[in-house]
Amino acid sequence: MKKTPIILDCDPGHDDAMAILLAAYNPAIELLGITTVSGNGIIDKVTENALRVCALAKIQVPVAQGAGNAILGAVEAASDIHGETALDGAPLPAPTFALESIHGVDLIAQLVRKSSEKVTLVGTGPLTNIALFLKMYPELKSNIAHIVFMGGSASRGNRTPYAEFNIWMDPEALEVVLKSELPITMIGLDVTHQALITKEIFDKLEAMNTEVSKTMTGLMRFFAKTYNDVFEMPDPPLHDPLAIAVLIDPTVTKNRFVNVEIELNGTHTRGATVVDIYNRTGRKANVNVALELDFDKFWNMMLDAVDKAGR
Ligand code: RIB
Ligand code: CA
Repeated sequence: MKKTPIILDCDPGHDDAMAILLAAYNPAIELLGITTVSGNGIIDKVTENALRVCALAKIQVPVAQGAGNAILGAVEAASDIHGETALDGAPLPAPTFALESIHGVDLIAQLVRKSSEKVTLVGTGPLTNIALFLKMYPELKSNIAHIVFMGGSASRGNRTPYAEFNIWMDPEALEVVLKSELPITMIGLDVTHQALITKEIFDKLEAMNTEVSKTMTGLMRFFAKTYNDVFEMPDPPLHDPLAIAVLIDPTVTKNRFVNVEIELNGTHTRGATVVDIYNRTGRKANVNVALELDFDKFWNMMLDAVDKAGR
């Protein structure tokens, strides 16, 4: 099977942690490295969490710390959802290897330069590192095959009424990504709110009975409680792994190629993704927007990865 080489830029974060497992354990993906960005927690916490998830699941790839705040703004952790550590809910083993000594953006450049094939960048946190990479290494843009990001929404937001958290954290970063005119896939709340961790999914996780599955179940139970407390959603949406799943099997979602712009100035709407589903503006289509999920296809690959990580 031909593997898709990717770099995962993330802010672990409960759903980021599951995305790391899927990227590392699905045979269709070659995980070249992990970079971290502040979002669900401050940069030190999300970086520590990335190393600890790698230790738990015996993943050995280069990990580098990236941007500690947005291109223009400061950082604001989503501790109401992910807790004080940014990954509350279960103890995680200590890291088994050290961080790379270079910045996350420079690790992206190093890995892209070294790759014999074009690389896909997957962003499951604010897009700061990916935007900085595009600005600092314009000569490497031609080595990028695709940018897939979890973020935005064709409807309502989750950090403000109209802005999704990752994009709200750094809207200028999405503007840079859109202006790159690279192939872009958007995994927004419209589709991620279909990737629910239902009771049946929890039962399947519990039945695995491995150290990895028990830890992930503990983390997801925490995530389920905070999500319900904040958003009154009894089953929490597992956002980030979908950004990997679409690279494994493009039929896991139904998409539309439409125009997406980012609102940078709206008093009440800054950070909103303006998704022109019905082409009402006549603006050029620029983003492949995932809208519908094949629930069983997604959870089969996600649960398989958790199972493999525990063996
Ligand atoms: O809005 C959901 C996104 O924000 C997810 O990536 C979650 O991990 C947080 O980063
Ligand atoms: Ca995330």
